[in-house]
Amino acid sequence: MALRLTQRLLQTQTPFLTRGYPMLVTKEKSEDVAHTKSSLQKKVTRTDIPSAQYGGRHAVTMLPGGGIGPELMTYVREIFSYCGAPIDFEVIDIDPSTEGNDDLDYAIMSIKRNGVALKGNIETKSQELSDISRNVAIRNELDLYVNVVHCKSYPGIPARHQDIDVVLIRQNTDGEYAMLEHESVPGIVESMKVVTVENAERVARYAFEYARQNNRKKVTTIHKANIMKLSDGLFLECANRVHKDYPELEHDNMIIDNTCMQAVSKPHQFDVMNMTNLYGTIVSNVLCGLMGGAGLISGRNYGDHYAVFEPGTRNTGTAIAGKNIANPVAMINASIDMLNHLGHKEHANVIYEATYQTICNDAIRTPDLGGNHSSTDVVENILKILSAKRVNWPHGNYFNQL
Ligand code: NAI
Repeated sequence: MALRLTQRLLQTQTPFLTRGYPMLVTKEKSEDVAHTKSSLQKKVTRTDIPSAQYGGRHAVTMLPGGGIGPELMTYVREIFSYCGAPIDFEVIDIDPSTEGNDDLDYAIMSIKRNGVALKGNIETKSQELSDISRNVAIRNELDLYVNVVHCKSYPGIPARHQDIDVVLIRQNTDGEYAMLEHESVPGIVESMKVVTVENAERVARYAFEYARQNNRKKVTTIHKANIMKLSDGLFLECANRVHKDYPELEHDNMIIDNTCMQAVSKPHQFDVMNMTNLYGTIVSNVLCGLMGGAGLISGRNYGDHYAVFEPGTRNTGTAIAGKNIANPVAMINASIDMLNHLGHKEHANVIYEATYQTICNDAIRTPDLGGNHSSTDVVENILKILSAKRVNWPHGNYFNQL
């Protein structure tokens, strides 16, 4: 079974375009940018599979994952139910310790049917080569080739730096995560880092389009082309080539080592960053750490057909599971991104404002943010604020239906 999946993963390294699928990206939110050449040239009409919608409600796949995932999903469902967000979740539990990949296959099929998912992190416990990461499998199988983490500081939250506003754009399917490792002779292990023109150009185009459509000024491509001359050299070369279509934007590049130092000492110099898979996760963890940790910021995964929303640093938080201390904000932010993506902007806005008020103004914060409140204190405060807003709620009937 594991072998079958590995073979399928390798097959899906071939981009959808070359397999005859139409290329299109939804553009229902300002930060969801149309980025493929065909969609930008408007040569394609909306012919891809529409996301599942029944009577104005969207069906969304929910993958709670391990660790703190299930409790965070409970909070999201409580908030959605309270404000009548028109979402029906199809909940699928993936247990990585079970034999076979039936649950993973079912989850992927569900996301293909619904188009959108909200996801916790699925822990990869095994060191067996054949036991691949379920998280990586989902991203590869759905060709979710770009990951976006918008690191924007929350005022007043104790952090090493304030006023950070950096958008991290990460290649999400190949690079160092190709999972192609072998022991060529005993004692010598080789690991392949795969960079393709197709994927390097797609992610660079997303970064430049994001910058253009969101009035950003500069894209910085992160690399190690001084050592990995072919792989990172190609990634940088593709970014330089795509930049020619965006002359109004500044494009510079920085070596990953220096990037980590610069991010820690002077993070405000960055605007939009374009990165390979591993550098992307390292830099997003560094920046999230500088702004308050793993519990705040959300991450968005896009392909040409599907979108998956999750906490930005993708941790499982297994050590704090079940203790009522996990910060629910990153997962709530992921659910807000998902509502925006589906066009439910009023619901997204009221939940965002209530969450912002809770942690910034009311200072109801979990221990990771220096507070002494529980996860449920944070959620209850959000519900209290939503309750006070019922009078002015643009779709009061949603509440009345409860
Ligand atoms: P972890 O889950 O131990 O989290 C790192 C730290 O952040 C811990 O101190 C944790 O308590 C804290 N934290 C995380 N979420 C929090 C929240 N909501 N509120 C408060 N504190 C929170 O991270 P680790 O050890 O890096 O990874 C655990 C598992 O996650 C690994 O098995 C790995 O397989 C998987 N993982 C997967 C990634 C992916 O790309 N899919 C990326 C990183 C980890």
